[in-house]
Amino acid sequence: MLVTMKDILVHASKNNYAVAAPNVVTEIDARASIELAEEINSPIILDVLGTAIPDLDFYGHMLGDMARASRVPVAINLDHGDSFERCAKAIRGGFTSVMIDRSSSPYDVNVRDTSEVVRMAHAVGVSVEAELGHVGQAGNYAEDGNSALTTPEDAKKFVEATDVDMLAVAIGTAHGAYPKGEKPYIRHENLAAIKEALGADYPLVLHGSSGTAEEDLKKVCSNGINKVNIANDLCNAICRQLDAADTEGQNAYAVWREISKGWKALLRHMMVDVYGSADKAWTPEAPGLPLEYNLHMGEK
Ligand code: CO
Ligand code: CO
Repeated sequence: MLVTMKDILVHASKNNYAVAAPNVVTEIDARASIELAEEINSPIILDVLGTAIPDLDFYGHMLGDMARASRVPVAINLDHGDSFERCAKAIRGGFTSVMIDRSSSPYDVNVRDTSEVVRMAHAVGVSVEAELGHVGQAGNYAEDGNSALTTPEDAKKFVEATDVDMLAVAIGTAHGAYPKGEKPYIRHENLAAIKEALGADYPLVLHGSSGTAEEDLKKVCSNGINKVNIANDLCNAICRQLDAADTEGQNAYAVWREISKGWKALLRHMMVDVYGSADKAWTPEAPGLPLEYNLHMGEK
């Protein structure tokens, strides 16, 4: 079932668990993600990095077909939308959610640009994610990991000003791979304060989850984080799977199956043992016909 990310995350927030948002790039990883979600009866979010996909319209429609054919709730979200225009393109491609990322801009610019996208998206029933504070790069963790953390005061002000549906927060994670031996330092107390400021049902998003200790991830997923973006760890899992596979001669044909296997194995572990979304799939209400549909033009 194709649903909005808000539908998925409000349920997750109310029931205290997190939903995986694997960054998908092809048909194989997207299909593997939905297959797995069905196997463990979990909702799932397909995150699509707009700058990595040349044709959002084509890719969005393909994902939409897969999502509609699925037995579990699936949302399609534009990850790190960098402009109003790209968000509009994603919506036209059938995405049910978009992120507008102005986390590197001043607060007022973030409010202005997020509000603009919220107005457009909400007009067509699409939900919006924004980021406040800034989740930086793991390669530069010494600096990025300690600056631009989200404060509860700003978070409350920002959500009220923009009407945004879910918020990505900076609580100590960073994007990509950390220098060897380094792990991020997660501010659990900051997360608790932000959740409290926004209300228990308001969904929060964790970017840059790769490389985070599993105990930390487990803790944040039952304490306010409702969506976990995962990319680098999944790509790594594929690489390890291929390294271990026998791909000599005729076995080379197995490459696509091995990719899917490696992806699913790690994602299954995270969704079942860490995020806590297994068996949390729910059935959306059938939309039915719009009540105000007017068959007789001019009559009221
Ligand atoms: Co991110
Ligand atoms: Co583990």
